[in-house]
Amino acid sequence: MSTRTRNSLLLLLSASLAQAAPQPHIPRKEGIQWGACKHETGGLPVECATLAVPLDYTNSSSDETLDLALIKYPAQNGPSKGSIMLNFGGPGQDGLNSMIAYAPIQGPITGGDHDLVSWDPRGTGQTLRFQCFEPEELGQTYLAGLPDASDVSPGKIWAEATIVAKSCGERLKDTGDLVGMAFAARDMMQIVDALGEDGMLRYWGISGGTALGSTAAALFPDRIDKVILDGVMNVHEYYHKSGETNIVESVDATFEGFIAACFENPKKCPIASLYGSADEALSAVEKLFEKLKYEPIPVFAEGSPPFLIDYSIVNSLIYSTLYRPSDYQFLSIALAALLAGDIDALVKILGSSSGVSAIPVQAEAVMGIRCGDKIPRADKLSDLDELEEEFHAMSKWFPGFARGAYVYACAQWPFEAKERYEGDFNVKTSNPILFIGNTYDPVTPLVSAQNMSAGFEGSVVLQHNGFGHLSIVQPSNCTNEIIAQYFADGTLPKEGTVCEPNVPLFGNDEELPTGGEEPEATATQEVPAPTDDAYEETPAPTAGAE
Ligand SMILES: *[C@@H]1O[C@H](CO)[C@@H](O)[C@H](O)[C@H]1NC(C)=O
Ligand SMILES: *[C@@H]1O[C@H](CO)[C@@H](O)[C@H](O)[C@H]1NC(C)=O
Ligand SMILES: *[C@@H]1O[C@H](CO)[C@@H](O)[C@H](O)[C@H]1NC(C)=O
Repeated sequence: MSTRTRNSLLLLLSASLAQAAPQPHIPRKEGIQWGACKHETGGLPVECATLAVPLDYTNSSSDETLDLALIKYPAQNGPSKGSIMLNFGGPGQDGLNSMIAYAPIQGPITGGDHDLVSWDPRGTGQTLRFQCFEPEELGQTYLAGLPDASDVSPGKIWAEATIVAKSCGERLKDTGDLVGMAFAARDMMQIVDALGEDGMLRYWGISGGTALGSTAAALFPDRIDKVILDGVMNVHEYYHKSGETNIVESVDATFEGFIAACFENPKKCPIASLYGSADEALSAVEKLFEKLKYEPIPVFAEGSPPFLIDYSIVNSLIYSTLYRPSDYQFLSIALAALLAGDIDALVKILGSSSGVSAIPVQAEAVMGIRCGDKIPRADKLSDLDELEEEFHAMSKWFPGFARGAYVYACAQWPFEAKERYEGDFNVKTSNPILFIGNTYDPVTPLVSAQNMSAGFEGSVVLQHNGFGHLSIVQPSNCTNEIIAQYFADGTLPKEGTVCEPNVPLFGNDEELPTGGEEPEATATQEVPAPTDDAYEETPAPTAGAE
C-alpha cells in the first residue's frame, strides 16, 4: 500500500492575465485524422490523433502551435450522434490512459450513442509535461505532505515545497505559464471545432474536470449543448484560495456515515462486532489515532520489509479509501483488526490486496495546473495559519489537508497562468448544465455542486444519495438513466431529485467474505482511480482491496 497511499495522500492535501479575445468558432477544414493509438489500450476499440492548437492564446503575434494528443472511444450503438468530451480530473490526470480505464464505465452510462473524446491536457502526458526533476522520481523526495500530527512537520513541508516551487520555476521557465484551466478550455473548444460537428460542447467532467467544465462554460456560454459536472469542486476556491476548504466539508460525515452503515449491516462489517454502537466505535477510533501518534506500531510481515503503522499512514489510508465504496469492506476489516490490536489479521488483509492498476500521473502536473491558476501567494508559512485553523475547524478526523504538498507549493508558486478566468461564474449558458453531487463524497461535497449551480442559470443539481467520490463509484440506475436522458435530448431532472444507489453500502445480506474478495459487482463500481495523485481526483480501478 505504501507508495500509492502515500502519494495519493500527498496530493490530496492532495494576475495579470490578459483575457484572450473571445474566440470565434471557426470550423477547421483539416478535421482530425484518427488512427491507431501508440499506447497500451487494453484491447479497447479506441483511436488516437494529434491536433495542433495555438501554444499561447494571449499572444496574437505568435503562430507557434502545440500538438495535443487525442483519443476517441467510438459510440457503441453504431453511428455516433456526436462527441462527448471527457476530462478526468486531478487536475493533472492525463486523457489517453484515463480513457482506457473510464470509457468502459462511462460509455454505457451516456447511452452509447456518442463518441467519447479526450486528450492529454497541458501539463500532462507529453503535452507540456510538467516535470520539474530529472529523474522524475527525485521530485517525490520533496513531496512529503502526509497529514502528520507533529508540530515540526509544517516547517519541513513548507521548506520542501520551496524546493519544488523553485525547481519547477527554473526548469520550466519557458512553458510553466502556458498551462491552466483557461488555456485547457480553449484547447477543448479547438477540438470541438476540429471534430466538424455542430461546434457545440457536450462534456462530462469528473472531479477536477468540473473546474475545467465550469471554466469552459463561463468562457464559452454560447457554445454549451450538454455539460455534466460530476463530483464538483468549488471552483471559486480553486482560483481564489491557497487551500480549498470546501474539500473537507463532507469528509467527516462520510467517515461517520461509513461507521453508521457498518452498524446497519453488522454481518458484513466486523467493526460492528467490537462495539455496542457507532458512537462507541468512533470514540475508539479517536483513541486509536491519539495512541498511534505517540506509539507507532512496528510490523514484521513475511514477504515484505518491516514497516511502521503510524498516525499518518492510518489517517491517510482511511481518507483515500473513502473515495471508493468498493474498498469499504476492506477498510472495515483492516480497521477492525487495528482497533482490536490484531496485527496479524491486519497484515493479512493488507497483504491480500490485489494491487491497483493505477493510471500513471505525474505529481507535478497537479501543481503545475492548479498552482498557476491560483491567485493568492504567501511569503511565509505563518501567512497560512488562518487557513490551517479553518481546516481544523472543519474536519475533526482529517485535519491535515492544509499541510498538503499542493497548498504549500501553490502558496510559493513561481508561475501565473497566462490566462485565468476572472469572472464570478454567474453565467447564462445556451443550454443548462447538469450538476451531480454525492451525499457522502469525501472530497467534492454536495455543497460544492450547489454552490456552483447557483451561478449557472437554469442548471440543476442531482443528488446522488451514495458514498464515495463521483456518482459512478456506487452505481445508481436512477442517476445513470438521468445522465443518458440528458445526453439524448437535454432533459434535466426536477430540482431536488435524489437518486438512490442500486445497493446500499456493504450490500444486502450476504455473509462477510474474507479479505480481498471481489465485492458483488452491483454494489459498487470498481473505478479506475487516477492514482497516485489524486487530489480531487478520481478513484482508481482497484480490485476489491488494496
Ligand atoms: C509572442 O510571440 C512572439 C513570436 O513568437 C515572441 O517573440 C514574443 O516574445 C511573445 N510574447 C510573449 C509576451 O510571450
Ligand atoms: C460559493 O463559494 C464561494 C467560495 O467559498 C463563496 O464566496 C460564495 O458565496 C458561494 N456562493 C454561494 C451561492 O453559496
Ligand atoms: C439496474 O439496471 C440493471 C441493468 O438494466 C438491472 O439488471 C438491475 O436489476 C437494475 N438494478 C436496480 C436496483 O434497479
